[in-house]
Amino acid sequence: MPSNPYQGIETGKPGRIGWQINYFQEVGSTQRVAAEVAEQGAAQGTVVIAELQTAGRGRLGRSWHSPPGANLYATVILRPKIPLIEVPCLSLVAGVAAAEALETVAPGILTLKWPNDVWLNGRKAGGIIAEAITDSRQQLACVLLGIGLNLNLALENLPPDLRGKATSVRIETGRQCDRPSIASALFNRLHSRYMEAEAHGFAAVRPAFERYMALSGRRVAVVEAGTPVAGVVRGIGVDGALLLETEAGTVRVMAGDVTVEGAYD
Ligand code: BTN
Repeated sequence: MPSNPYQGIETGKPGRIGWQINYFQEVGSTQRVAAEVAEQGAAQGTVVIAELQTAGRGRLGRSWHSPPGANLYATVILRPKIPLIEVPCLSLVAGVAAAEALETVAPGILTLKWPNDVWLNGRKAGGIIAEAITDSRQQLACVLLGIGLNLNLALENLPPDLRGKATSVRIETGRQCDRPSIASALFNRLHSRYMEAEAHGFAAVRPAFERYMALSGRRVAVVEAGTPVAGVVRGIGVDGALLLETEAGTVRVMAGDVTVEGAYD
C-alpha cells in the first residue's frame, strides 16, 4: 500500500468535503473508483485521488491526459438533495472553488470558461465533470464530481495535440506548487461554496462565477444538442445557463461546447 501524501489534509469530520481521502497510485479513472465507493455507501464528502489515471475521462466522451507525479485527479462524492436537472450547476460551483484555490498560486491569470474549464492565461489548466448516479426509481443517488487540475505538469510532458490549448500552473508561473496544499484549499472552498448553493441555490454562487468568467462580452459559438448557436456572452442565469445575445434575441444555453473566437491566439 503506497503512503498517502493527502492523509495529512483529511479533516476526519464525516460529511465535510475531504473528510476521508482514498488514495491510489494508479486507476483507470477516479470517477469509476468513486462510483464503486459510493455504491458501498460512502458518506458525502468522501474523495478518491489517484496519482495516475490510465483512462481519465473528460466531458463529451473525451479523454483526460493524466500522467503521474504532477497533477491533481480527484473525484468528490456528493449526495445533494436536488433535482437531477440541477446537477450541472455543481460543476459551476466546483469551478468557483477551483478558481479560489488556485488564485493564491496563480494570481491574476485565472479565469473560468463556462461550463467547466479552468483557464490560466487563456489556456486550459483544469476541467470538471459532474456525473449523476440514479437509483432504481431514477432518483438522484449521488453526484461524482470529478476535478482535474494541471499543477506541476512541464511543457515537455504535454502531448503535441494539447500544446497551445492546455497548460499548467508550473508552465504559466514558472513555479512548482504543493499538491496537498492545493487539494486542501480546493476541498475547503468547495465545502463552503457547496453549502452556499445547497442553502440558497446556484444564484448565491453566480456572482463569484461571473467575476472569474472569461467569456463576458466575447463572441462565441456553442453547439447544443447538435444545433449551433452563435452570439455574444452576456453572463449566466440563476440556473447556470449561459446567456447569449443572438440576432434572434437572448438565448439560454443549458449545455454544450463553447468555441471562443481568438481563444488560443
Ligand atoms: C473536462 O474538462 O472535460 C473534464 C475533465 C475532468 C477530469 C477529471 S480528473 C479526475 C476525474 N477522473 C476522471 O476520469 N475525470 C475527472
